[in-house]
Amino acid sequence: MKNFIAIDDCTTEELCHVLDVAFELKKQYKTTGRNDHLLADKTLAMIFEKPSLRTRVSFSNAMTQLGGTSIYLRQEEVGLETREPVKDVARVLAGMCDGIMARTFEHEKVTGLAAYSSVPVINGLTDYSHPCQAMTDMMTIKEHFGSLQGKTLAFIGDGNNVARSLSMACGRLGMNFTLACPEGYELPREEVDRIMAKLPDMDFVITHDPMEAARNADVLYTDTWISMGQEKEKELRINAFRGFCIDERLLEVAPKHAIVLHCLPAYRGYEITDGVLEGPQSKVFLQAENRLHFQKGLLAVLMGGK
Ligand code: CP
Ligand code: NVA
Repeated sequence: MKNFIAIDDCTTEELCHVLDVAFELKKQYKTTGRNDHLLADKTLAMIFEKPSLRTRVSFSNAMTQLGGTSIYLRQEEVGLETREPVKDVARVLAGMCDGIMARTFEHEKVTGLAAYSSVPVINGLTDYSHPCQAMTDMMTIKEHFGSLQGKTLAFIGDGNNVARSLSMACGRLGMNFTLACPEGYELPREEVDRIMAKLPDMDFVITHDPMEAARNADVLYTDTWISMGQEKEKELRINAFRGFCIDERLLEVAPKHAIVLHCLPAYRGYEITDGVLEGPQSKVFLQAENRLHFQKGLLAVLMGGK
């Protein structure tokens, strides 16, 4: 693995290896209070075109706890494609740093960085995908259930960047994926066909009935209805997504053992109720903490020779 841009670029073996390293580093940190300094003297450059809490803090602290350091760069100062072309930024950062993590609007900016960088490039979320989140979610599901094989994740909400990465992660790691969304908010048909062509054994269902999706779910998952950059569509989306909230009624239909995940930030009363988010089936804050542990596994593999 040189970069981490999209889950379907990775093999199942590569993804499982990163998860194994992440679990190992989590265990080491929890039992000893520290990690081996696998990334001593290494620097990760982090470019953000969009806001972040979890992604920024988890990458930054993962670098610190593995003995390295990180540099936070705002789009206002880097100016990807406004102050400087992506290809120039890639080569300048690769000459000074050991890895680049970027959160951008256009996915092509992250793939452009990867094309011109000699050091690993990590996708920290684009309009198209959010692979670090999806793999953290696999870690959380595996930690809770002991295995991923044959489990069903029902994503209730928008066919967005998080849903797309989750569908690929489920396909690669032996899980079934159901998307329950209003008409017009599905993942595009040609993309589903492309994912299915790469992952022919996958059980991939799209439905417009959230109750049907919840009935067989081991994991109920949701995300905001209004992703970063879609703020102008707020009213339209709130109306379109009515009925697609993970609320007490939906949870009642799901198997008793089902857990609830949300990548956060959450908008209580819209895609999830406060009661469900704070309730016993919610593993949302374990999931958020696991962002740190997964990033450590990923960085140790990409930059630390693990
Ligand atoms: N879930 C997630 O990526 O959170 P941030 O946007 O706060 O990084
Ligand atoms: N779909 C959301 C995820 C936030 C972590 C967004 O892109 O804003």
